[in-house]
Amino acid sequence: MTYLILKNLHLTTIVITLTLFVLRGAWMMAESPRIHARWVRIVPHVNDSLLLASGIGLAVLIQQYPLVHGWLTAKFFALILYIVLGTIAIKRGRTRSQRIGAWIAALLVFGYIVAVALTHDPFPFLH
Ligand code: HEM
Repeated sequence: MTYLILKNLHLTTIVITLTLFVLRGAWMMAESPRIHARWVRIVPHVNDSLLLASGIGLAVLIQQYPLVHGWLTAKFFALILYIVLGTIAIKRGRTRSQRIGAWIAALLVFGYIVAVALTHDPFPFLH
């Protein structure tokens, strides 16, 4: 029961984080002022905290942990990379092409994280 609630929360927040990241990327490319709207600066952080919390909850429930189990270690470091690339894409990137490059790279890393999660394997594309 707890597992299902956490898993659904995890999956829901994953869909929301991806949607918001794609949306903010589109606004970044269009140089739209919407990217600076108050809710746009708050909601992703609330959602991402829930995403992280549900991930940690699931890890505790299935008793597998980052830095202990390979696939969660890979997920953990890929998540850090995704966050760094995401802040370059949305905020820190100096030029437009730097931001777009970081945005595309972040989406690729996100795809890698999902593949690792589905296969429980740090090298999901070698199957
Ligand atoms: C961008 C961040 C993340 C993405 C895209 C993501 C993606 C996913 C997906 C798609 C699943 C479902 C796999 C399935 O249905 O079998 C999943 C499950 C899971 N995730 Fe994440 N996750 C993220 C962050 C995290 C974090 C930070 C942790 C823990 C520290 C974590 C731990 C787990 C665990 C333990 C499961 C359950 C696996 C199972 O029961 O088989 N995730 N994740």
